[in-house]
Amino acid sequence: MSHAIAPSILAADFTKLANDISMVNMSEADYLHVDVMDGVFVPAISFGQDIVKQMKKVCEKPLDVHLMIIDPDRYIKSFVEAGAEIITVHYEACTHLHRTIQLIHSYGVKAGVAINPHTPASVLDDVLEDLDLALVMSVNPGFGGQKFIYRALHKIEYIAEQIRQRNLACKIEVDGGVGEQNMQSVLKAGADILVAGSAVFRSENPLETIKRMKAVDLHTFTA
Ligand code: DX5
Ligand code: ZN
Repeated sequence: MSHAIAPSILAADFTKLANDISMVNMSEADYLHVDVMDGVFVPAISFGQDIVKQMKKVCEKPLDVHLMIIDPDRYIKSFVEAGAEIITVHYEACTHLHRTIQLIHSYGVKAGVAINPHTPASVLDDVLEDLDLALVMSVNPGFGGQKFIYRALHKIEYIAEQIRQRNLACKIEVDGGVGEQNMQSVLKAGADILVAGSAVFRSENPLETIKRMKAVDLHTFTA
């Protein structure tokens, strides 16, 4: 399977959100990545369910909702109702992670778990069977436009190896500082879905950038 691209709407111009979402609709992007921040788990506050619901009205791509919030169980139902197709929670924000994953699945949507840069990938070992998505953060969550942390590549490799050895269906998503300059290493490490905020929305021609990012072929590079 070729890789998927999930443009992160956090990097869009919120004064013309509908335009940016229709660009994503027209593009070859596979998902719209939606970053929800509570100002407690991460320093910033972004937006909540009502805005996600508005986005859903105009977005033709599945919503990949990344919850950077503490105690996410309280809000999962409302994000499903807002239109999320994938809900990803943070390992660091869940006391009973296995229960949270079951809760997400009980609403018939896909479940992901994200790990921060300081969190070892092995914490996912005992839930990997239950996951649709393992999200490796390659920046500290909270802001777009940060520099990719290269240590993340080892974690992608580790999770990819677990998935291979145990023949699991879980996909690997990578989020933070990903762009055309480093996406080949990220794919080579074993990532399936690349989140790209600044790399897409701050580029000269976002539509073309997505097209080029989709066209990168693992077999055409050697490094
Ligand atoms: C960071 C968010 C990311 C962010 C990525 O906390 O989870 O999804 O939007 O933005 P870039 O691609 O600019 O690092
Ligand atoms: Zn994100």
